[in-house]
Amino acid sequence: MTHRITKAVIPAAGLGTRFLPATKAMPKEMLPVVDKPAIQYVVEEAVDAGLTDVLMVTGRNKNALENHFDRVAELEATLEAKGDTAKLAKVNESTDLADMHYVRQGDPLGLGHAVLRARMHVGNEPFAVLLGDDIIDARDTLLTRMLEEQGARNASIVALLEVDPDSIHLYGAAAVEATDDPDVVRVTGLVEKPAKEVAPSNYAVIGRYVLKPEVFGILEHTPPGKGGEIQLTDALMTMAGDVEGTGGVYGVVFRGRRYDTGDKLDYIKAVIQLAADRDDIGPDLRPWLVEYAAGLDTV
Ligand code: G1P
Repeated sequence: MTHRITKAVIPAAGLGTRFLPATKAMPKEMLPVVDKPAIQYVVEEAVDAGLTDVLMVTGRNKNALENHFDRVAELEATLEAKGDTAKLAKVNESTDLADMHYVRQGDPLGLGHAVLRARMHVGNEPFAVLLGDDIIDARDTLLTRMLEEQGARNASIVALLEVDPDSIHLYGAAAVEATDDPDVVRVTGLVEKPAKEVAPSNYAVIGRYVLKPEVFGILEHTPPGKGGEIQLTDALMTMAGDVEGTGGVYGVVFRGRRYDTGDKLDYIKAVIQLAADRDDIGPDLRPWLVEYAAGLDTV
């Protein structure tokens, strides 16, 4: 029997040290991508795929996240009094988006540990995990496709992206077998952040997962792996072997637009790409960018 999936888990307890000092007092998930915090894109993606129950796994310093998805009475009243309905709508966008829940991670023991903290909230149902560093273009419906595959195969699903072999060490890498669907592969093995020489392929796991609840029991017994952290990748490796009837792991191969906001350079690229694409500032930004780029020295 398959369930209609309604729950999304968003780990957001990282320290964001790559963006210091901007993240000294503010969570990295609140960094604006054009004019919206990165985390709002991710919650919007979950909601667009029908996942309206969102659990954020947060940590210290994360009050701004809760505030962003809550009402802000004074600001609302001021905008209302001014009759500024456009700005008021922008304020309310994130308030009305989803049914938000929060749990703290406590010890920062890794992504697998963060996901395990969702166990009580999720219960015995399949659920999605969305990592905040990846923004998937709203026009490319990756998560919807993954939810469909989960229902059809009764397995756990990861999102895979073919990357340059020189950057596979930044990701979980999957060993795969073809299925009769060109966009879906069976995952036979997974390695967290392997060196290029030992990577099983250049299929990188990107930050979207649809998991069966059996993952919790497996995570509980998953020892610390790469970096001394409890790795979700390691638990999925166990599930790929279809232990205890977990249904195995399949990968949906993503060929759409993804913006990485996880490090400084990629973050800047993401802001430029998304801004250039927007109807409000794109028409002014694009010609300026071309002119600016023409004057740049590439070395
Ligand atoms: C995490 C996962 C990794 C995955 C990546 C995707 O790593 O552990 O398997 O490929 O997200 O963004 P992180 O980038 O959080 O270190």
